[in-house]
Amino acid sequence: MKFLFINGVNLNMTGRREKGVYGTRTLDDINADIAAHFKGDECVFYQSNIEGEICSRLHAAADEGFDGIILNAGAFTHYSYAIRDAISSIDTPVIEVHMSNVHARDEFRHKSVISAVCKGVIAGFGANSYILAAQSFIL
Ligand code: DQA
Repeated sequence: MKFLFINGVNLNMTGRREKGVYGTRTLDDINADIAAHFKGDECVFYQSNIEGEICSRLHAAADEGFDGIILNAGAFTHYSYAIRDAISSIDTPVIEVHMSNVHARDEFRHKSVISAVCKGVIAGFGANSYILAAQSFIL
């Protein structure tokens, strides 16, 4: 299996921001854990704070033979119609993930504009959310 893990805005600060919500492990730590978990599979990691770059990465992924894309768009989840349209523009299945349980947090986090065009949604399992999402392509 070949997976693309995309992290959006502010996820580069994981391990340093809101540690009570997102934990103390950095995004590099989390990505290393994911790669170790799926050591027989190919895992590609990408992070950007720029909405358009995430759209471009999704477009490019359409021709790169990925079995699935695991996307934590961060706050873009709640308002980016551009990322929603980028997901709709490609055939590769995308799973929306969140480390925190967004439904137990601020009201504005309860709405996702990308869920409807994703294969599924996993939220609330910390860094394991990424692994559970990728695992769903294997089961
Ligand atoms: C997040 C939840 C979002 O609401 C927030 O803006 C993030 C991270 C999560 O992983 O729990 O940046 O996507």
